[in-house]
Amino acid sequence: MSTRRETMSVMLTTSKLTKAFRAKIKEPGLSGSFRAIRHPQYREIVAVDGIDLEVERGEMLAFLGPNGAGKSTTIKMLTGILTPTSGSMTVAGLTPGKDQRALAYRIGSVFGQKSMLYWHLPALDSFRLLGAIYDVEGAVLQKRLNALVELLEIGEHLKTPVRKLSLGERMRCEVAASLLHKPEILFLDEPTIGLDVVVKAKIREMIKRINREEGVTVFLTSHDIGDVEQLCRRAVIINHGRTVLDSTLAEIKHSYLRKKIIRVQYVQNIDCAAFSGFAILQCKDNEAVLEVDALANSMHETMTRIMAVGEVADVTISDMPMEEIISAIFQQGTGRSPNTSETAEFMTHEADIRRQGGVVE
Ligand SMILES: Nc1ncnc2c1ncn2[C@@H]1O[C@H](COP(=O)(O)OP(=O)(O)OP(=O)(O)O)[C@@H](O)[C@H]1O
Ligand SMILES: [Mg+2]
Repeated sequence: MSTRRETMSVMLTTSKLTKAFRAKIKEPGLSGSFRAIRHPQYREIVAVDGIDLEVERGEMLAFLGPNGAGKSTTIKMLTGILTPTSGSMTVAGLTPGKDQRALAYRIGSVFGQKSMLYWHLPALDSFRLLGAIYDVEGAVLQKRLNALVELLEIGEHLKTPVRKLSLGERMRCEVAASLLHKPEILFLDEPTIGLDVVVKAKIREMIKRINREEGVTVFLTSHDIGDVEQLCRRAVIINHGRTVLDSTLAEIKHSYLRKKIIRVQYVQNIDCAAFSGFAILQCKDNEAVLEVDALANSMHETMTRIMAVGEVADVTISDMPMEEIISAIFQQGTGRSPNTSETAEFMTHEADIRRQGGVVE
């Protein structure tokens, strides 16, 4: 009996889910293009490398990782867009790809980097078309649409061709489109990318609401830790296609919040050598930023040492930002030790390792 209940509460499973791409290697220039045609060479990119997952019905899961970690590839397999190379998965008890038609009625998806709406048509036309595709009866569709339009405040944009909408207006329409057929699980791949704080807040509120009121399971990838902190209790962190960590945000915070960031401003310029033994994040002129493990070090002793360096003008002690905690964990997945200044740079580094993939066949 309990096994049955357990089975019923599981919304998504993956077992050793793997996706390898075959990418054509092409040297630069025209001669490289000819060589690639005459003697094509390939290399294998293992984007997802044996991921095991279980997501409960009604759960909001953050699926995180650095650029190129394999998040979108995983979502594409779970939504049936890509076929796995090996391994298995179920979503709402169905197998993506194999049970694709039935699955389409049960899932919704938003890809922040790709529009699901018809570019040249007003969003309303796309909504009606989607309603027909999902067999939503006219009156039911209208009622659902009215509610979504009101919640996402998109009434005035419904009749404008999608290409003329701002990113924020379009994304709110995308979210509405993904929810029209009352999906049981919503896949969100960077739903707030490039949006201002007001629109982000609106979209997060909407996601919270459909989770609370309709019990929709949420599978979210985002580089915005605000999304993660406000929506999810659990985070799975992947890197190089493998799971690095599967934990609750509370546990992640607990294990990392022992790290404190101390920013001290002195009245006069200081000698940074005085901080030997500290993890120095920044030290210049009259200011130093230090990372201190509050459990391993007595705060009293730490502050005594800091005050011995010079006359203190101001000091602030803060917890390590969640954003840096997550990026430090990303780094652990690369086998390197976390280093805060490096990770901060890492978070803003736009280099996309997709470029390494060459021309893809
Ligand atoms: N169609 C494809 N052909 C070849 N390689 C691909 C293809 N799609 C993705 N990849 C490669 O697979 C790896 C994972 O890509 P994926 O898009 O899943 O990463 P991601 O975690 O979503 O990254 P980001 O945070 O940048 O969106 C990358 O190395 C990428 O270059
Ligand atoms: Mg992606």
